[in-house]
Amino acid sequence: RKGRTPEEVVKRYLQKVRNPPEEDCTICMEALGGPSGYKGPGVASVSRAESVGRLAQCGHLYHLQCLVAMYNNGNKDGSLQCPTCKTIYGVKTGNQSPGKMEYHVIPHSLPGHPDCKTIRIIYNIPPGIQGPEHPNPGKPFTARGFPRHCYLPDNEKGRKALRMLLVAWDRRLIFSVGTSNTTGESDTVIWNEIHHKTEFGSNLTGHGYPDSGYIDNVLEELKAQGITEDEE
Ligand code: APR
Ligand code: ZN
Repeated sequence: RKGRTPEEVVKRYLQKVRNPPEEDCTICMEALGGPSGYKGPGVASVSRAESVGRLAQCGHLYHLQCLVAMYNNGNKDGSLQCPTCKTIYGVKTGNQSPGKMEYHVIPHSLPGHPDCKTIRIIYNIPPGIQGPEHPNPGKPFTARGFPRHCYLPDNEKGRKALRMLLVAWDRRLIFSVGTSNTTGESDTVIWNEIHHKTEFGSNLTGHGYPDSGYIDNVLEELKAQGITEDEE
């Protein structure tokens, strides 16, 4: 992917639109038939013929310049996500800082899963300095509550979730750097949009068992990040 300009990346996922409908671009709220409301740096002028594009899979229309501006605001990993329906083009990655993910089976059952053992995942992320992909590049970030322990039932579905979480880890999607909802602290490592169960034998925080819907829920959250069961 290296060497491709943001405009080239975006165009790979677009089809041409000859006559834009009389609708607004939902990124800039200006008419698709007119120019993009985005005049930010790094957005070159484009010819009228390619000023509007259709995202190939979901069909949503935007100004090309608006999509390029959106791409430039992200972590520029070669992927694009439709802001309307969240369809992912390419492989989505996150900005999780370096660390370690380990797992093993422990010979105890989770509440609600009496007939199997338990997978324990251990995440460890040290504090560090924010990179260009983080909210405040060059500024330190803290990392609270590590190692963080998480639990899955050691059955077929739980193992599937584990395989997908390993992919999510490699794509830097499990954690992010930002402001914690729980503590209000900024510039710290926080959970991203994939929920984990961090309580083993109790459910005091709501992040424990029993929770019969949890595995299906986390599989959905993984899918929303572009991780599906067939990639392991
Ligand atoms: N266990 C699992 N998930 C949690 C927990 C928890 N104890 N607390 C919050 N979350 C979920 C929230 O539901 C939300 O979806 O993480 C997401 C981000 O919430 P933040 O509070 O911003 O995340 P963070 O600061 O990383 O987590 C707070 O989680 O694992 C613990 O030690 C950690 O006490 C800290 C807490
Ligand atoms: Zn869309």
